[in-house]
Amino acid sequence: MKNNEDKFKKVISHAKEYGYIFQSSEIYDGLNAVYDYGQNGAELKKNIREYWWKAMVQMHENIVGIDAAIFMHPTTWKASGHVDAFNDPLIDNKDSKKRYRADVLIEDYAEKLNLKAQKEIKKAAKRFGDAFNEEEFVSTNAKVLRYYAKRDEVLKRMASSLEAEDLADVKKLIEELEIACPVSGSKNWTDVKQFNLMFGTKLGATAESSMDLYLRPETAQGIFVNFSNVQKTGRMKIPFGIAQTGKAFRNEIVARQFIFRMREFEQMEMQFFVRPGEEIKWYNHWKEERLNWHLSLGLPKENYRFHDHDKLAHYANAAADIEFNFPFGFKELEGIHSRTDFDLKAHEEFSGKKLQFFDHEVNKSYVPYVIETSIGLDRMFLAIFSASLQKETLEDNSERIVLKLPAVLAPTKAAVLPLVKKDGLPEIARKIIDELKYDFNVTYDEKDAIGRRYRRQDAAGTPFCITVDHQTKEDQMVTIRHRDSMKQERVSIERIKEIINREVSMSSWLQKI
Ligand code: GAP
Repeated sequence: MKNNEDKFKKVISHAKEYGYIFQSSEIYDGLNAVYDYGQNGAELKKNIREYWWKAMVQMHENIVGIDAAIFMHPTTWKASGHVDAFNDPLIDNKDSKKRYRADVLIEDYAEKLNLKAQKEIKKAAKRFGDAFNEEEFVSTNAKVLRYYAKRDEVLKRMASSLEAEDLADVKKLIEELEIACPVSGSKNWTDVKQFNLMFGTKLGATAESSMDLYLRPETAQGIFVNFSNVQKTGRMKIPFGIAQTGKAFRNEIVARQFIFRMREFEQMEMQFFVRPGEEIKWYNHWKEERLNWHLSLGLPKENYRFHDHDKLAHYANAAADIEFNFPFGFKELEGIHSRTDFDLKAHEEFSGKKLQFFDHEVNKSYVPYVIETSIGLDRMFLAIFSASLQKETLEDNSERIVLKLPAVLAPTKAAVLPLVKKDGLPEIARKIIDELKYDFNVTYDEKDAIGRRYRRQDAAGTPFCITVDHQTKEDQMVTIRHRDSMKQERVSIERIKEIINREVSMSSWLQKI
């Protein structure tokens, strides 16, 4: 745990040091759970967004993208259920005065049981070596069975209490499990209360004429209210999808863990409209396709796992998360939800407009069912950034910090470095940059010894360094150094573009999905 905390602190400080993420309004001591993306962060975020957009919209003939406004008619949020039900159960510790999400306290407790079971499994694997049969061990070892049974029991009880809106029982569960406040260590809790997460604002110049609005807490509703516009103008036939990326806002009770849980964040969502009765087939399809999208970026498979929901939202008939192994453990990265016809039906009811599709194959109109894929762009950023940040011990026992971002996402694709700042080498380097800049983000660096410049680019996540030396003047050849392997090769200047392109071009990465 301590190691993980250290790792997470390093992720945060590295993100700042290399111009990826800054605390918002830092000169005024910052704003809690709001962050700004710096010069490298903005590029990485843009590249992730583009990789998602291309995978969704460009790669699917039957998916189109829109860009709906953040402000929406307030009835939208009545219809969607957010006004009445977009609540989190909160609880305060009377001694530390700290506020927590009651469900998160219980989930953290369950995760601890999970970790204990996994520790037993690891210990046994080490003891038995090649002869170890994990499946058999998990199904027979008394300790592991006890941990898992307790974990499942706790989560089930919490799910049913929340479902029944029995907040007194949620508090009772926290007391029975003897969960203590991480700050004060005390078990002196208030009652559990519901808290609506939407930010309110006003539209209009005068108090009499102004209208109460909400900042959207999800981008999905902008898709639902435009269902008929897109279907008709795009002549879309079921099954089809509408994708969108954009800002969402939630007044999170406990916003912590850096950019994992923010009050202003960005979502990348896709609603896929299907024939009623076919939703589970498409739900399974999108679960698989979304996992493949993540895996195409090349991080180890073990970083991802599915978590099927026991507690379903009021609108869903199936739901799963793709969880990622963040520095603080496995947590939700993306949600895949089978939302039934709940949203379109609710908007029909509240707006009085028909939101249906006439299906010629079955010769009838119906309200389509919806499969949603929903991922936080900032959370995806954190997943990629934290897993890419590594410390390596080299052959000569020295250490290097390297940010092994998937090359397709790296903010800067290459740094061009003249070996010395004289003898005409900077001019050649500038000329190379002038040729590459139409295709890639490239940078120039002439300060410090070449080794230090390599380390600087490694830490910033730049996949290639191109060094111009005196020999270049003779033979038009440069040294290309690869960030991950640190291998160096001598290539002619005219081949540089092709070599970089091979590793960073989005099309070759998209083909892996
Ligand atoms: N339209 C469905 C929806 O919004 P959600 O599970 O509440 O579902 C979807 O959110 C995704 O948005 C999450 O999986 C997560 O990646 C991201 N997300 C949600 N709340 C967030 C927050 N406060 N900060 C950063 N990302 C968040």
